[in-house]
Amino acid sequence: MKVIVGDNEKISKLIAEEFIAQINKKPNSVLGLATGTSPLGVYANLVKANKEGRVSFKNVATFNLDEYIGLEGTHNQSYRYFMNDNLFDHIDIDKSKTHVLKGVGDYIAYMNQYDDEIASFGGIDLQILGIGSDGHIAFNEPGTPFDSLTHIADLTESTIKDNSRLFNDISEVPTKAVTMGLKSIMNARKIVLIATGKNKAKAIRDLLCGPMTEDVPCSILQKHPDCTIYVDEDAYSLVK
Ligand code: GLP
Repeated sequence: MKVIVGDNEKISKLIAEEFIAQINKKPNSVLGLATGTSPLGVYANLVKANKEGRVSFKNVATFNLDEYIGLEGTHNQSYRYFMNDNLFDHIDIDKSKTHVLKGVGDYIAYMNQYDDEIASFGGIDLQILGIGSDGHIAFNEPGTPFDSLTHIADLTESTIKDNSRLFNDISEVPTKAVTMGLKSIMNARKIVLIATGKNKAKAIRDLLCGPMTEDVPCSILQKHPDCTIYVDEDAYSLVK
């Protein structure tokens, strides 16, 4: 794994440039996208580059990592809403090629065909990840099998607490989600992970220095052949 340290502005720009280079090299790239606060700067840079004509998403397809069970795509905390609001509504992408797991209706049927659908597009070329303070990636919580495909996950108390900052009240945070599995994520040809802030320091230490164990879901990335970890000084502070 490669590690790049810089402030949020710098690492967001660098990751956006990775995406721009990927799309310009292969206009019909398949992108794996993440939600959360961490990738917001990357998405803002991509919107800017698209408006400046430096990159076009016309032929791009996207697959998102996860979605809360119980939230309609129109709910302002659903991940479909997040993606439209922070990226898709501002770029020249064909929305029918943007895939986000469903959290309502026929979500189980949609979940069961998600890995096959990714494969039918040729697999993910470039995947962006955030990381949970407990070391989760997507919604793969500690204990998730390394060979997991897209599945239903119970959120841990720590994740519910972390994510409650975005809801009116902790009681409104869904307790279950649909998520790409660890194997689904590892299938991506290239992975970039972004983490900033002191509350990510322990997860980043475990990712970079700890043993590879299902107790720390992100540790599986240690065996990915092309994975770069972008961190700020705070997230990196327990390494060294
Ligand atoms: C959620 C998402 C993850 C994300 C994590 C960290 O739990 N399912 O994909 O990486 O939060 O979010 P943030 O970037 O807001 O710290």
